Amino acid sequence: MDYPVWYVPFVTAPMLIPAVAIPHVIVAQFAVGGGFLLADLVRRAYGTGNEALLACLRRLARFFVLLTLVFGAVTGVGIWWTIGLTSPETTSALIHTFVFGWASEWVAFLVELAAAFAFYALWDRLPPRQHVAVGWVYAIAAWVSLVLITGITAFMLTSGSWTPQRGFFTAFFNPSFVPQVLLRSGGSLALAALGIGLFVSLQALATAHKDLLIGWISRWALLGMGLLLAGGVWYLLVMPEHATLNLLRAPMLLIMLLLNLAVTLAVIVALAVGHAAGSAWLTPPSAFFLVLAGIVAITTGEFIREGARKPYRIENYILAPGVRVAEVPQFHEQGFIARTPWLRAYLQARLPGFDPARLAALPAPQQETVGEGIFRYHCASCHALWGYNGMVPLVLPWTPELVAHATQHLHLTNPAMPPWLGNEAERQALTAYLVQLGRRGR
Ligand code: HEC
Repeated sequence: MDYPVWYVPFVTAPMLIPAVAIPHVIVAQFAVGGGFLLADLVRRAYGTGNEALLACLRRLARFFVLLTLVFGAVTGVGIWWTIGLTSPETTSALIHTFVFGWASEWVAFLVELAAAFAFYALWDRLPPRQHVAVGWVYAIAAWVSLVLITGITAFMLTSGSWTPQRGFFTAFFNPSFVPQVLLRSGGSLALAALGIGLFVSLQALATAHKDLLIGWISRWALLGMGLLLAGGVWYLLVMPEHATLNLLRAPMLLIMLLLNLAVTLAVIVALAVGHAAGSAWLTPPSAFFLVLAGIVAITTGEFIREGARKPYRIENYILAPGVRVAEVPQFHEQGFIARTPWLRAYLQARLPGFDPARLAALPAPQQETVGEGIFRYHCASCHALWGYNGMVPLVLPWTPELVAHATQHLHLTNPAMPPWLGNEAERQALTAYLVQLGRRGR
């Protein structure tokens, strides 16, 4: 482990990622789907020659550009900061594996930004055909950036037959790539349709105009839900076994999965009923609840993807504490502290003259100090002391023998955990620390 850990009490550092990433994904998916809808709605509105409709869509475009570009760009940069600080090894591996993927993604994003600005700023100045064409450029550039990012995030869950020697394309076209592209494309269209539906429901427009708009929008919504269902089922089928087992084993993830399915079904039923009933049913409150349902579906979906990956950050390649699978034997031979320079520095600052080779000879309180350091580097990416996956409540009712057994058989105790990565003296120091935690917790 070549980097220091960022120790975050109560929530653990990796849980900061969803706090930034989920709002980003929601807005980014809205931006992608919204591109297709805007281009299509504007094309149809030009066809009717109706000024009131066009004026309404222009207001929508303004809101859309502000929300997606400003919020999307700020949270996108925020994700880089958060993953760089919380998972430096994984971030570095992703940058190295996908250099040209990232570069292409930034180009696509630049095209997306320019087209979005042009679409709004040149509203009255471009002839209709060209104006709509700019809208499609925006939509396609935004979708390309979704596809590029999806290849990379899907790789973390299913690395497939990739090895460091095999390079970019094997990594990118991994087993869950196509299902996740379908899922996210469908999700984007559905979410954008629901969001634009809410916008339309709040506008003072003649009923006939609203009926027209809602009719156009709900076709996109149904297409989106169809893609989403197909992608979702395929995605669950290609999930690696360890990930599926995580879903069944962890009550929170299972609840999220069921919630996700329930919300998806509810939206489909609402859309199908609504499609038949015209725009009258789409009052601001019902539209608001549909958007909320879309947000719940995306949030639970992201948690499932993140939670199912344990014990890996990148399947079969990097384990959650930031250790490469190929390095595990060296960790066993040389010891965890010897392979983790920042932990050594942390311990030497707290125990002057500390020498990992003489750990077993240290008195009990100092061993516990070492155990605390090991906990921070080996366990704290998934366990807070109190709070998220809290260690104290877990070991509180346990006997010292049971704690010792768990540290010895870490990945057998719960396969969401990595194997134990240190030597015997380190394991005993960690056990002493955990036993003492349990005692103090009582
Ligand atoms: C990749 C994430 C991850 C890492 C790293 C990790 N754990 Fe866990 N651990 C989990 C999960 C998930 C559970 C299940 C929690 C639950 O059942 O509520 C768990 C459960 C446990 C339990 C309770 C087991 C049981 O069956 O009730 C103990 C004890 C434990 N972990 C100790 C550790 C120790 C010690 C370390 C560091 C050496 C560690 N864990 C590292 C994810 C992790």
